[in-house]
Formats: sequence, C-alpha cells, structure tokens
Amino acid sequence: MLGVEPQPVEHRVFPDGESYIRLTKPVSGERVVIVQTTAPNPDSKLMQLFLMARTAKDFGASNIVAVVPYLAYARQDKRFLEFEALSLDIIVSLLDAAGVSDLIVVNVHNEGSIRSIEEKHGVKIHNLSAVPLISEYLKREGFDGALSLSPDKGAIYIVETASKILGGGYNFFEKTRDRKTGEIKMEAKALNIRGRRAVVFDDMISSGGTMAKAVEALKAQGAERVAAACTHVLYMPGAEEKIRKAGADPILATDSIETSFSKVSLASLIADKLREFK
Ligand code: R5P
Repeated sequence: MLGVEPQPVEHRVFPDGESYIRLTKPVSGERVVIVQTTAPNPDSKLMQLFLMARTAKDFGASNIVAVVPYLAYARQDKRFLEFEALSLDIIVSLLDAAGVSDLIVVNVHNEGSIRSIEEKHGVKIHNLSAVPLISEYLKREGFDGALSLSPDKGAIYIVETASKILGGGYNFFEKTRDRKTGEIKMEAKALNIRGRRAVVFDDMISSGGTMAKAVEALKAQGAERVAAACTHVLYMPGAEEKIRKAGADPILATDSIETSFSKVSLASLIADKLREFK
C-alpha cells in the first residue's frame, strides 16, 4: 500500500527463552517503521520490539515509528491497588529510551490515560480506531440497522461511532469487575431488542466473560441475532466456547492479532496513518 519494500528482521528464540535480533539492512539516515504486535507471548514480543528499536537507533535511523496494532499491558493504565506497577507507563518509557518517536496503536483501552502517559515521555502516541472498518464489515454481513451495544460505559465511544454506520442506535451495560477475583457483574437494562439484531462491541476479548455476559443478556431479551465484535481477540482457552454458548454469531475481530476471528484487516488504517509521516 505504501510502495515500500518490507525488510525482514532476523530473529530466533534461544532455548532459555531469550530473543536474538539482527537487522538485515543498513538503517543509517532512514526513517524506520517497526511493525510488531504484542500477543501472544506479550513479554517476549515487547522485548523483541525494544531490541529492534534500540538497534535501529544504534545504527543511525533518523526516526523510528513503532506500529503496535495490539499493545499489551495497556489495561494497567493506573494503579488500581496500592504499590501496583504502572505497566503502560513503563512500556512507553522503555520505548522512549529505545529511540521510538511515534507509537501507532489501535483502540487502546483508555484514550484519557494514553494522553496523560504521553505527556510524561518523548513518544507521540497515535491511537487509531478500527470501529468504522468493523462496522462496515458488519453492515455488509447483514447487521445494517442493528443496535450497537457496549458491555461497559468505558466503551461507549465505540458504539457511538458504530451506530453512525449501522444506524440502529446504541446503548451500554453497566459492568463491574472485582479487582481481586476478576468476577464480572453486569446490569442488564431493559432494551427494545425483541426480534432485532444487535452487535456487542468491545476493545478486546480476553477470557470472554464480559462478551458472554452481554450477549447472554441480549439473547435473554429476545434478540434475533447477536454479533460479538472486538478489535483485539486474545483467544484465551475457553473464551470462544463461552461466547458461542451465550448465543453469539458471528464472533469477529481485526487482524491486530492473527486468529481465525480476524475478519477485518487493519492494513489500510495503518497505511493511511503512515502516509502522514511522509
Ligand atoms: C475491559 O474493560 C475491556 O474493555 C474488556 O471488556 C475486557 O478486557 C474483556 O475481558 P474479558 O474477555 O476477560 O472479560
């Protein structure tokens, strides 16, 4: 899409789990874009990203942009309990130290926290949204006019955008999660959904608990068909079964993490952003 030749990076993982990284072309004076998603195996994927960026810096890259379609650790964007590590802040500070000037991510959980973390470091963070692409896909797949639902208030910005494309209005559930046990409780408000189609949108599916609860509530109120849509599917064991059992059809995500649910490509979204750097 950008008319540039992608350059592979030589890498391998040693038997003890350490990563080896070697660039395969000179980068001196070049503007370098490093593309690395951070799941599965977030810790080693992040370490590989730090190694690639810092090596490009050491060899004279003029500018380094990290494209991280799924950014791990973004949910730990504040200290929920005393003495917790502020994970997202630490990841961004390490990218800064490795020479990254711009970080392109997609639907990172909390835009507000991104902005406050950005202020503390020298990395500009571009948080793109895949929601228009996902909504267009769903529209083509028979969800034109469907109600857009978010499983919690935090994701309401997602369904506002989606409903502009799907045209069936939007609403949200009230979700609370026990910080220690992880148990999810969802207030299922009454919705006028009998015989209609609905889409539950979330930024990510991890254990599948949130999505399953929301889908279940819609089916219990007589929704004819419910799609479970998200940007990032972490594909944890049992998640798919839980969501299907709740009645979702289809389950879909982008290719921020390549899985069998990757129905929407982020390539055009990211290429359009990168064009701005020319
Ligand atoms: C959290 O608020 C996020 O937006 C997602 O709702 C959450 O991460 C999904 O996690 P799980 O699939 O484990 O319920």
